[in-house]
Amino acid sequence: MDFSLSEEHQMIQQAARDFAQNELLPGVIERDDEQRFPAEQIKKLGELGFLGMMVDPKYNGSGMDTMSYVIAMEELSKVDASASVVVSVNNSLVCYGLETYGTEEQKQKYLTKLASGEVIGAFCLSEPEAGSDATSQKTTAIDKGDHYVLNGTKNWITNGSSAEVYLVIAQTDKEKGHKGINALIVEKGMPGFEIGPKENKLGIRGSDTHSLNFNDVIVPKENRIGEDGFGFKFAMKTLAGGRIGIAAQALGIAAGAYELALKYSKERKAFGTEIGNHQAIAFKLADMHTQITAARHMVYKAAWDKDNGQNYDLSGAMAKLYASEVAMETAVEAVQVHGGNGFVKDYHVERLMRDAKITQIYEGTSEIQKIVISRSILKS
Ligand code: CAA
Repeated sequence: MDFSLSEEHQMIQQAARDFAQNELLPGVIERDDEQRFPAEQIKKLGELGFLGMMVDPKYNGSGMDTMSYVIAMEELSKVDASASVVVSVNNSLVCYGLETYGTEEQKQKYLTKLASGEVIGAFCLSEPEAGSDATSQKTTAIDKGDHYVLNGTKNWITNGSSAEVYLVIAQTDKEKGHKGINALIVEKGMPGFEIGPKENKLGIRGSDTHSLNFNDVIVPKENRIGEDGFGFKFAMKTLAGGRIGIAAQALGIAAGAYELALKYSKERKAFGTEIGNHQAIAFKLADMHTQITAARHMVYKAAWDKDNGQNYDLSGAMAKLYASEVAMETAVEAVQVHGGNGFVKDYHVERLMRDAKITQIYEGTSEIQKIVISRSILKS
């Protein structure tokens, strides 16, 4: 067993770290305040190959492994989780889904642009009444021979207005339950497709989260991903990998908050010494460092499983569950270490605390991860 990072992984880590410091840090507070999408930064991330990291170079991807992806996600998320969620959704849910299950025509038409960052994508599963209970899709895709007619509403869609390509999960045959669900590729601008209002969120405020409305949208049959009825399994398989990306995002938020708390502990003085010399603070740092190290091992293990053809449903769900809890706890403690300054936006930790919360909710809440984990261990 080798715990060291390869030279290539170290280079990716450094590149992502530099990008985060030089391109994401400037303006991150203002973008959060104004709920402004990091459009320029995402464009540059695309040009550097961070939006199609695991995609085959023949489709304009970077041809890297999942390990590279989680390493980059951690570094970007230390500074700006609003930008890193775009990276995560585009890589894990959209590009992975299309590359693994799409037809050659779909890959040429859509994946090549998504992997290069020319356009970005969105993954549309959640509905007003089907967030966790993903089989209860109310959005319908009625089969009309050579096309589907799509009707319904999707909620909380990341990249809601900035995407050009939307993977939409919808019910074609209610009688068949989850076996009657399809995944369709919908393009921005298709008649009847409307982008609803932007959500005013607690965290990841720079990312654009919208509801989407589909009113008799005609989607050609060639835009269906996989066989008829494959949509639910497509969503589950894609989300299983997506959870590794969000686990890495949570790890990054935790590590970012910890690094700020550590730095502050060495600078800020109280009772005649740096506050890190007081056990009240030192013990918090010890807990943070221990938990983050454990979370990183879990994230790397899940990535390793995916890269080595192992089942990653369990390791991905465990990594997401644990890393998101560590992110939340660490960020809260980092604010505490900063005292009054922690409550002030200039010190970044309050934003990380707000951003941490979503990692316990999206791509399956912590409770959903426990369902996935418990089913897996009971079955084994
Ligand atoms: N891989 C392959 N197949 C899978 C699978 C997986 N990981 N998970 C389930 N399936 C299959 C099952 O085998 C079953 O198929 P068969 O009937 O042929 O055996 C079928 O799918 C149905 O599975 P379940 O009976 O387990 O389904 P369920 O209704 O009990 O739900 C669930 C399971 C785990 C709770 C699931 O609904 C789920 O994951 N819910 C959460 C969804 C989610 O993550 N939502 C977040 C939205 S996306 C998002 O947040 C993106 C973003 O913007 C950042």
